[in-house]
Amino acid sequence: MNTTTPRSALAEKVARAPKAELHIHIEGSLEPELIFRLAERNGVRLAYESIDALRAAYAFTDLQSFLDIYYAGASVLLEEQDFYDMTMAYVERALADHVVHAEIFFDPQTHTERGVPIATAVAGIERALADAERRGLSSKLILCFLRHLSEDDALATFDAALPLFDQYSHRLIGVGLDSSEHGHPPSKFERVFAQARAKGLKLVAHAGEEGPPSYIYEALDLLKVDRVDHGVRSIEDPALVTRLADTRVALTVCPLSNLKLCVFDDLTKHTLKDLLDHGVAVTVNSDDPAYFGGYVNENYFATIDALKLTDAEVYTIIRNGFDASFVTPDERAALIAQLDAHWHAAPAR
Ligand code: ADE
Ligand code: ZN
Repeated sequence: MNTTTPRSALAEKVARAPKAELHIHIEGSLEPELIFRLAERNGVRLAYESIDALRAAYAFTDLQSFLDIYYAGASVLLEEQDFYDMTMAYVERALADHVVHAEIFFDPQTHTERGVPIATAVAGIERALADAERRGLSSKLILCFLRHLSEDDALATFDAALPLFDQYSHRLIGVGLDSSEHGHPPSKFERVFAQARAKGLKLVAHAGEEGPPSYIYEALDLLKVDRVDHGVRSIEDPALVTRLADTRVALTVCPLSNLKLCVFDDLTKHTLKDLLDHGVAVTVNSDDPAYFGGYVNENYFATIDALKLTDAEVYTIIRNGFDASFVTPDERAALIAQLDAHWHAAPAR
């Protein structure tokens, strides 16, 4: 018996629409099956007996409870081929969801701590992304600093990565800030972001996922970010919402992540539609899809359903993804033309 609920016409239209994904941690795309395969290949011992036992542990109460398992999962990544296999598995899912452009985060400190050089991670990821490019998925790569570690550690990581920013300048185009938000405000990373800015890199930071609006102000004013990752708590500060709307600094929102990490107890309470109504450039993304129960299309389906989004609202969100992406003006125009051709040809509502 087929128990799948039929999707609405709008969901069907979204499913096949060309989309950008601007907030995806590549280590968060490691499915349990691949974690176990890589663990066996590399002789890494996991704290879970089986794939089912690992999946059963995916019951998170907050960001930290997730991060503990996420870092344990990433411990199976040792060789360049592991990074290739992980990235290629994401590429397959992204292509299936009609993602045509992805801006992908990776966490080098998670790997250098285990003796894996940044160059090994980047080489494997790059090889997969170059293969993806030939299949219609363009992409950029963003190096994220772990905010629970010191700024000195971030500065040393940045120094070690400097040759890679030159070698992979077509792909590795920015830096970000992720991991445990509470107690680690953006101000802690002002110097390393200033160095990245001086090098001409794009800047993003997680802020206002669990942390207060003041963290979003710090990301904007001290780090001078081009985009804010999550930013869903901005709604608590009307002046901040107006500023985000006026400046068009986009938020990379991840609805299923927010639900799984208990930022909202129900998707109907999600602030994405309020932010959209106030003119904020919100986008929809998957964050850590292997852990949160859905890749980008599932995030759209759940959000459309919970917030009763209209055809025009969904178009705006998808379009925001292209407007906020770090591509050239010509590339952006081509991506938007692809979207428009699909959207206006497909039946509405
Ligand atoms: N690293 C991976 N996923 C993250 C998230 N949702 N917030 C902060 N750091 C992360
Ligand atoms: Zn994230």
